[in-house]
Formats: sequence, structure tokens, C-alpha cells
Amino acid sequence: MIIGTPYLTTEQIQNKTAEIADMISHDYLGKEIVAIGILKGSFMFYADLIRMIQVPVTVDFIVASSYLKNTSTGEVKIHYDFRENIAGKDVLLIEDIIDTGISLNYIRERILSQMPSSLKIAVLLDKRERREVDVPLDYTGFQIPNKFVVGYGLDYENKYRNLPYIAIFKKKA
Ligand code: IMP
Ligand code: MG
Repeated sequence: MIIGTPYLTTEQIQNKTAEIADMISHDYLGKEIVAIGILKGSFMFYADLIRMIQVPVTVDFIVASSYLKNTSTGEVKIHYDFRENIAGKDVLLIEDIIDTGISLNYIRERILSQMPSSLKIAVLLDKRERREVDVPLDYTGFQIPNKFVVGYGLDYENKYRNLPYIAIFKKKA
């Protein structure tokens, strides 16, 4: 059970997403983007973000997991790989949250190995104090403390992803 009130409200998330979309539209003016979302966690952020981007977007996804319950295993599994031929394309990688950085780093290198023309990364949430691997981020929504959060795509044991806001997760005593 979730206890507590939203940590980031729907409105805060939407406003921040609009800011990021504006920056992206500006940075990619006259270009096209291949947007690769990392599932499952990024599905809401991805859908909201690309709807507000003003340049052409090709949609693709990668399904990966690195988490067992709420501790990082340090291993990344690719369950489904993106399908686009990204050689020579401008790729935007979209993720819900960066924690240790292990997942994003792994996926970033996988994408870079296919020689895109450029690669930028957008993350909604950044738990900076937990970082173990340095990953260059181009667009960051919110810096958050080292607390486990759920909602807006983020889960605990695959639940709570459908909350329209982000809450700090607490198990009921
Ligand atoms: P990293 O590889 O340690 O950076 O972990 C990133 C992945 O861990 C994210 O894509 C999420 O799936 C998951 N994760 C990290 N922190 C949280 C959290 O607070 N709530 C839900 N999932 C999280
Ligand atoms: Mg994730």
C-alpha cells in the first residue's frame, strides 16, 4: 500500500515535460528524431514528451530490466531490442529514472555501437547521489533524493505504474 501524498504532482510533471520538449524542439530544429524509450518505466514520460515535441519523431522502444525488487542487481537484461536502423540518425534515448547509471550506461553503449549521427539522453528523474557510473545527460527533469519512488510509469514489483503522479513509496507498517 502507498502511504503519503504526491511528491511530484501531475501538474509539476507536465510543466517540466513541456520545458524539456521545448528545449528538444529547439535543439533539433530542421532535424528528425528517432526516440527510443526504455520500457517499461518510461512509457508515460515518453508518451507525454513526444506529444509535445515539434519536430518529426520515429517511435521505438527497448525493454530492459536491471532491478530485482528495489535493489539494483548491477545486471542489465534486454528483453526486446529496438528495431530501427539508427546508423546516421539522431537518436534520443528516453528514460524514467537514473539511479546507479548502470542501465542507461549499458543501453547507451549498445546504441552507440550502431553508429548514430548523434545520441542525446532525456531522463525525468535523477537520483544523483546514487550514481556509480557516469552517464552524460542532456535533459533532466528533477533531481530527487535517495528515496524509492513510484507512479507515472515507475513501479514497485510492477505495481503503481498507473498513478498519474510520483509518490515516495512506503510499505504499510
Ligand atoms: P540504474 O541502473 O541503477 O540507474 O537503475 C535504473 C532503473 O532502476 C530504472 O530504469 C528503474 O527501472 C529502476 N529504479 C531506480 N530507482 C527507482 C525508484 O525509485 N523507483 C522505481 N524504479 C526505480
Ligand atoms: Mg526503467
